[in-house]
Amino acid sequence: MIYVLGSINMDMVAKVAYMPAMGETMSADKFFLNPGGKGANQAIAIAKLGGEVRMIGKVGPDASGVTLKNNLIKCGVDANYVTESIQPTGIAMIIVENGDNRIILSAGANYDFCEEDVDDGLSEAKEGDYLIMQLEIPMETVVYAARLAKKKKMTVILNPAPAQTLPESLTCNVDVICPNESEAEILTGVKVTDDVSLAVTVGNLYRMGVKSAVITMGGKGAYVCRGTDITHIEPRKVKVVDTTGAGDTFIGAFTLKLAGGASMEQAGRFASAASSVTITREGAANSIPTLSEVEKIVNEKS
Ligand code: RIB
Repeated sequence: MIYVLGSINMDMVAKVAYMPAMGETMSADKFFLNPGGKGANQAIAIAKLGGEVRMIGKVGPDASGVTLKNNLIKCGVDANYVTESIQPTGIAMIIVENGDNRIILSAGANYDFCEEDVDDGLSEAKEGDYLIMQLEIPMETVVYAARLAKKKKMTVILNPAPAQTLPESLTCNVDVICPNESEAEILTGVKVTDDVSLAVTVGNLYRMGVKSAVITMGGKGAYVCRGTDITHIEPRKVKVVDTTGAGDTFIGAFTLKLAGGASMEQAGRFASAASSVTITREGAANSIPTLSEVEKIVNEKS
């Protein structure tokens, strides 16, 4: 079983031709609400791709909370440990310009975790299970959950987003860290521009205590790193509509394959194919492909 402990947001998306200047008021080309949150997106990716996944998260006592929990269930996610907080449901304001996004979060219920929520959510977890986390919930919750997961002999996957300083009490319990290129730069102080800076970045991540790493590089593909072995995964060329949720699709798909016994490289190739579909569609959770869509791409390539 794969467990996802993380955020659930209602995304408020405005598509614009350009970013407004300070003091400027402008009309969006398009505006829509849709389900998001890095945690929920990753759980939905696993479910849509055929995996068994339990989401541990919080929503508010409002209409968005009901909609988001129902959407998780509709997508096939076990939402029995998505509980209600007195805080409002998390919101992400997303501005999409030329396919790329800028996101402002209002955490709300996502910051209302206590240790008991983690204990309950992981009560049935056992050796061989996987736990995925991101950083849109309190750091102390993530640290606590990683420690508990390792006690249970689970594999811990960390998506360090939004990027922030990671305590050693967390990194020592992380099996695979999955930052994107800007998160990797914030964590290590090094920008990946070539093989040398890549090796330094990966070395710095290992020195933090994590066991292995996958760095997603947007249009430049991804690097799967195990020890000194670094494999580059070429991106699939597609027409980019909206990159929101692409990283979440990658992490969900990657973990699903890894949990199914694939190597990190195989899992990375599958994840790359899955996220290449997400970016051809608008929105986050709704843009994540199904297993048959991804299999079609994988079969075309081989
Ligand atoms: O990774 C994309 C997600 O980040 C969005 O769905 C938004 O909710 C933010 O959490």
